[in-house]
Amino acid sequence: MAILEAKNIHKRFGGTEVLKGVSFSLDRGKSLAMIGSSGSGKTTLLRCLNFLEKPDEGVIKVNGETLFDAADPSTHTESDVRRKRLHFGLVFQQFNLFPQYTALGNVTLAPELLAKDDPSYGSDKARILARIRDEAKDILAQVGLSEKMDSYPHQLSGGQQQRVAIARALAMKPDILCFDEPTSALDPELSGEVLAAIRRLSERNITMVIATHEMGFAREVASQVIFLSDGAILESGPPEQVLSNPQTERLRSFLNAVL
Ligand SMILES: Nc1ncnc2c1ncn2[C@@H]1O[C@H](COP(=O)(O)OP(=O)(O)OP(=O)(O)O)[C@@H](O)[C@H]1O
Ligand SMILES: [Mg+2]
Repeated sequence: MAILEAKNIHKRFGGTEVLKGVSFSLDRGKSLAMIGSSGSGKTTLLRCLNFLEKPDEGVIKVNGETLFDAADPSTHTESDVRRKRLHFGLVFQQFNLFPQYTALGNVTLAPELLAKDDPSYGSDKARILARIRDEAKDILAQVGLSEKMDSYPHQLSGGQQQRVAIARALAMKPDILCFDEPTSALDPELSGEVLAAIRRLSERNITMVIATHEMGFAREVASQVIFLSDGAILESGPPEQVLSNPQTERLRSFLNAVL
């Protein structure tokens, strides 16, 4: 069953239409790789899914619930956006960690803020905070950072910082974890450890949408690839089909350029 459905997403900036009716759906536990040249609309699509941009047309559903329908203003209220965003986690190209907090502090920060909305927080604070810390330590261990929990971002390599960013997104238990070119700011030797961490998440059936230029990785991890070209999906399907047997000249020349 589809955990995520995006239907006919359009986004304009001024007079320029950057997304021209993008539709796809993704089953729970599967990963979708989004490929396409610079400017094709990958980041804009991820930002629309995460409610950082408001599509001009289209529908976004998670678990069958309509989170956004451009035609229905009651789905656009600001007060709802915070709740809806919790369905998604987003890991950016630049890690955007909080420099004043340790790795562990970066991971516990958002769950701690969210816990304050819990009616039992006042009476049960110590237990709730201990649980959040334990979960955060677990998640940091899953991305191979047990030894680095007490390090500050400036004491970590780029690959380690990106793994903290992944742990931070996971700590909010999103339905769908989105990555925007998670390794493109890293040297090749550091990309490998981040890709390995993401691969382990896919083995645990975490649902993911990943914008990437790493075709080998897409082939290995994704069950579905979409090729965005000029704001529209030009080709889509299983990686062995899309990446091995491109149907359009545009995809052929894109693949030649990145491989
Ligand atoms: N806030 C904005 N205002 C105006 N134009 C924008 C804005 N954000 C993105 N665009 C334009 O939308 C198009 C798609 O940009 P987007 O960042 O989504 O591409 P991308 O596929 O992520 O590219 P890259 O691979 O370089 O990251 C580009 O032409 C970009 O200039
Ligand atoms: Mg981008």
